[in-house]
Amino acid sequence: MNRSWTVERLEQLQQSFADPHDAEAILQALPAWFPEQTLCFSSSLGWEDQVITDMIWKQQLPIAIFTLDTGRLFPETYSLMERLFEHYGKRIRVYFPEAADVEQLVNEKGPNCFYESVENRKLCCYIRKVKPLARALQGMQCWITGIRAEQSPERSHLPQVEWDETHQVVKVHPLLHWTLDEVKAYIREHHVPYNPLHDKGFVSIGCAPCTRAIRPGEDYRAGRWWWEDQTKKECGLHIAPTASA
Ligand code: ADX
Ligand code: SF4
Repeated sequence: MNRSWTVERLEQLQQSFADPHDAEAILQALPAWFPEQTLCFSSSLGWEDQVITDMIWKQQLPIAIFTLDTGRLFPETYSLMERLFEHYGKRIRVYFPEAADVEQLVNEKGPNCFYESVENRKLCCYIRKVKPLARALQGMQCWITGIRAEQSPERSHLPQVEWDETHQVVKVHPLLHWTLDEVKAYIREHHVPYNPLHDKGFVSIGCAPCTRAIRPGEDYRAGRWWWEDQTKKECGLHIAPTASA
């Protein structure tokens, strides 16, 4: 896809959302903007993503759902994939990293090299998440995420509809304006399966060695790569990809 989505067209799409808070209506309306039906939603299986999955699958929207299995996820996350299948009778498509990349990384730098430097950590995220994401987005025109503004200062400034130059897709964040309490209320009300780690203080859940529970009052993302400088804590999925720090 060339950059056929001008700033004006992005604005038109944004303005077509009568209520930017109504995630369900946004998801319902999106396919009409992409007649080739090349829309996908990336799920980390966190509770925001479970809300969006529930909306997509219950209404049978033509939006493909995929997850990036880094090979280092929590056992609870894999169990949740099975529970999703039991609940909805469908499976999320899984993308893995290239075996040769992981072998080289682990053989040259060790299995837990991400604790040693930001450079190693970004390389691991690049191999296990960023490269597989590029594969998952190939041929897509619209990429939906579970990002919320409340999650970090960087995310608080995001537009709900944006052009992703790296992947050449329109990126949409239907839950951008939701609070965590609203996400939890939806999950309760609609009996959506969710990761039990959320009940143990894990607000944002990524890979097991790089995620810990947070204490009340701590930042949402304080449990991710907690040993690093606050300003460097993005894995590269939502910024231009790079294999170095
Ligand atoms: S991350 O950049 O720090 O990893 P975060 O965990 O906050 O992201 O999740 C934000 C959004 O990124 C999720 O709602 C989801 O759309 C996408 N995402 C994050 N991790 C994955 C994953 N492993 N597989 C698919 N999508 C993911
Ligand atoms: Fe590797 Fe940690 Fe990034 Fe997962 S979060 S890909 S284990 S560095």
